[in-house]
Amino acid sequence: MPIAGIVPGSHVLVFPFPAQGHMLSLLDLTHQLAIRGVFITILVTPKNLPALSSLLSAHPTTITTLVLPLPPHPSIPPGIENVKDLPASGFTSMTVALGDLHNLLLDWFRNHPTPPVAILSDMFLGWTHHLACQLGIPRYTFSPSGALALSVIFSLWRYPPKRADPQNENEMIKFPKIPNSPEYPWWQLSPMYRSYVKGDPTSEFIKDGILANIASWGIVINSFIELERVYIDHLKEELRNDRVFAVGPLLPPGNKTIERGGPSSKDVLSWLDGCASQTVVYVCFGSQTVLTNKQMEVVALGLEKSLVNFVWSVKEPTVGHAEGEYGKIPAGFEDRVAGRGLVVTGWAPQVAILSHDAVGAFFTHCGWNSIMEAVAAGVLMLTWPMMADQYSNATLLHELEVGIEAAEGAETVPDLDDLVSLFSKSVSEEARVVRARAKEFGRAAKEATSENGSSWKELDRLISNFSL
Ligand SMILES: *[C@@H]1O[C@H](CO)[C@@H](O)[C@H](O)[C@H]1NC(C)=O
Ligand SMILES: *[C@@H]1O[C@H](CO)[C@@H](O)[C@H](O)[C@H]1NC(C)=O
Ligand SMILES: *[C@@H]1O[C@H](CO)[C@@H](O)[C@H](O)[C@H]1NC(C)=O
Repeated sequence: MPIAGIVPGSHVLVFPFPAQGHMLSLLDLTHQLAIRGVFITILVTPKNLPALSSLLSAHPTTITTLVLPLPPHPSIPPGIENVKDLPASGFTSMTVALGDLHNLLLDWFRNHPTPPVAILSDMFLGWTHHLACQLGIPRYTFSPSGALALSVIFSLWRYPPKRADPQNENEMIKFPKIPNSPEYPWWQLSPMYRSYVKGDPTSEFIKDGILANIASWGIVINSFIELERVYIDHLKEELRNDRVFAVGPLLPPGNKTIERGGPSSKDVLSWLDGCASQTVVYVCFGSQTVLTNKQMEVVALGLEKSLVNFVWSVKEPTVGHAEGEYGKIPAGFEDRVAGRGLVVTGWAPQVAILSHDAVGAFFTHCGWNSIMEAVAAGVLMLTWPMMADQYSNATLLHELEVGIEAAEGAETVPDLDDLVSLFSKSVSEEARVVRARAKEFGRAAKEATSENGSSWKELDRLISNFSL
């Protein structure tokens, strides 16, 4: 359905990547753009259309959709159109599959009476830069990650590090050009990059996509200047322009936060209403990570023995998880902690939980969306990065002193005693300083997104950039 009365020159194509963290934050940004009067067409595949329903009903006259079929790919079973239903390698397959939309999309542009004047697309859709060049319009990369993580990714592909010992997975790889010279052991670097180095043939397409992001007209990141100033400035220097727009934290609009949870949402929130201020540890490892049974057991015991109040959002196993080895809640656990702890399976209303005054700490895998949500809510974090850029997320949190290191690595089983003391410490006086820092950033985040705040202005700057 076309939008009636598009003002020529103010129509933008938004193209999210179908992975939970990537899609939600770009849709939240789309909402902000629509409020400011930008006309938008959102490109999705059919099965992802329901995720847009509240956005579409909020903006019936400014947002429309372009629904294109997901091109087939040997590693994506028919009917699956979101990375959350695929094993970790799904990111690569989905990236490659969506690349086949190039010609269809080109035709759509050429036949549209008032086609978009810019493309805003996810960082895993680097090929849209080439399409934009063919069309003679600017393409903006949307990065659901922050500026430090993006700096690391760009650096990897742009200046491939030399390894002294290619057999040594623990070799430290340095990034001397990035502020504070971060370094990470090889095994913690982007799996896509490591596959490329191993000679995976699909990697050329991935590599081309990243380099296309670097060459794109602009970059929009879900972060804010007060949080990542030095890394944002670094990106501008690397890209040799100032079209890096930090517009975060991107959050669901006001009262929509509860809709992001499953049917149990209301129960969780009313349960939290019964807990004292800052006494609850919220545990959640994101939409992609499923713990092994051994890890489940230690987390459960940690919560049990520390005697803290908690909400634990448990993700259930999907395709690619060996049957019976993952995601099992220890027998009897829920009975033993009845009254002071809640286990939620499925999708928890994370933003609403984190914003609840009862929640004092967040045990997290350090996915960037989770971090932005916790920062915005001013909640201190216990960090357990498990893959990809989560390690750089965690570094940033330790640097800013809003996070306390809990564990590291997807295979790791944390030490039980450490976990017990960490949980109790996190909601006690002992964590006073970190908690105060977290609150400070919470206030800064609120200011950034309020009228005339830094992210507010960045959004205006982005929109005027669209119509140049
Ligand atoms: C959300 O709803 C509450 C009442 O339920 C209201 O007081 C508040 O202003 C609303 N917030 C936003 C951002 O709309
Ligand atoms: C944080 O981790 C997520 C994975 O959940 C990743 O996509 C993102 O790039 C990371 N961001 C930063 C700033 O490290
Ligand atoms: C924002 O800035 C504009 C222009 O300087 C000013 O008129 C307005 O009052 C400011 N709004 C707030 C809430 O400070």
